[in-house]
Amino acid sequence: MHLPKITIVGAGQVGSTAAHLMAKKELGNLVLLDIDVGMAQGKALDIAEAGPVEGFDVDVSGTDDYADIAGSEVVVITAGSPRQPGMERTELLRRNVRVVAAASREIARHAPEAYIVLVTNPLDAMVCAAQEVTGFPAHRVMGMAGVLDSARMRRFIAQELGVSGKDVTAMVLGGHGDRMVPVTGSSTVGGIPLTELLPRERLDAIVERTRHGGGEVVELLKTGSAYYAPGASIVDMVESIVRDQRRIRPVAAYLKGEYGIEDLYIGVPAIIGAGGVERVVEIGLTDSERLQFDASVDTVREMIDEARDALDAGS
Ligand code: APR
Repeated sequence: MHLPKITIVGAGQVGSTAAHLMAKKELGNLVLLDIDVGMAQGKALDIAEAGPVEGFDVDVSGTDDYADIAGSEVVVITAGSPRQPGMERTELLRRNVRVVAAASREIARHAPEAYIVLVTNPLDAMVCAAQEVTGFPAHRVMGMAGVLDSARMRRFIAQELGVSGKDVTAMVLGGHGDRMVPVTGSSTVGGIPLTELLPRERLDAIVERTRHGGGEVVELLKTGSAYYAPGASIVDMVESIVRDQRRIRPVAAYLKGEYGIEDLYIGVPAIIGAGGVERVVEIGLTDSERLQFDASVDTVREMIDEARDALDAGS
């Protein structure tokens, strides 16, 4: 069986969790790349050794050499620092944009045909940096955030109603951060609109918790940030690409006039398949959601400017 090659740059908590799940699904042969080569090799070996027990047969290798990513169909970037409690957004951005830009240069050189899925935060600015540095067509560079944010929302809705999260759909738009826009009007439970099942104040509480879902985990962990749900969300997107599933997912995609927005990466629903972001899907927003989306657009634009400044200052 031909298996695609999938590279994960950053073999830390998120990267290695995603790698293990991809191996279990036999999505592809995996390369874990990290500046800490021993860690990448050790985790790769450990995952490969789970294969006989879990019943998967894929190659998993670790490296610090970008030459080893040649031929990758998909490259996931998780490299960078996770958010620490109390860390300023600007500090995280300055640190991580340099890491993402360096990785992007190498990807452009060694895997010029790859699709890139960005995970490093602050997400929307990192996706934009990766696209600008690689010069790849925008549909080949996307960011994973909405799948995670909507998974959190689905979980909170399921808990509130005492039903299976599998039956809950949710859509979260906008930038990845506390300005994200959970769209309750697009959420359903077993096909029933969520707005018919929960009163407004319970919906508002769920929306608020979703907005701070990442922070809630950071506060509890004290060091590092979430990785199980982020790992699973990465796998969901990569699977849709390598198996051409054409799932509709909220994804940080490049807008060329959709939602009335030009030239910006931000979270919107899109069809994800073998062609990457194949089509952005426009959904109706209430007046209040539209205002929130516009505020989120402003925040993302500011972050992108900060990221460009940080890169110019470093070059
Ligand atoms: N090249 C390759 N790998 C790097 C580089 C680099 N220039 N800089 C850092 N790394 C690696 C680190 O060595 C580490 O193994 O990135 C990895 C990051 O892993 P963790 O510190 O465990 O962070 P993690 O929890 O996985 O989060 C990674 O995902 O969800 C986001 O906000 C999160 O931006 C963060 C990213």
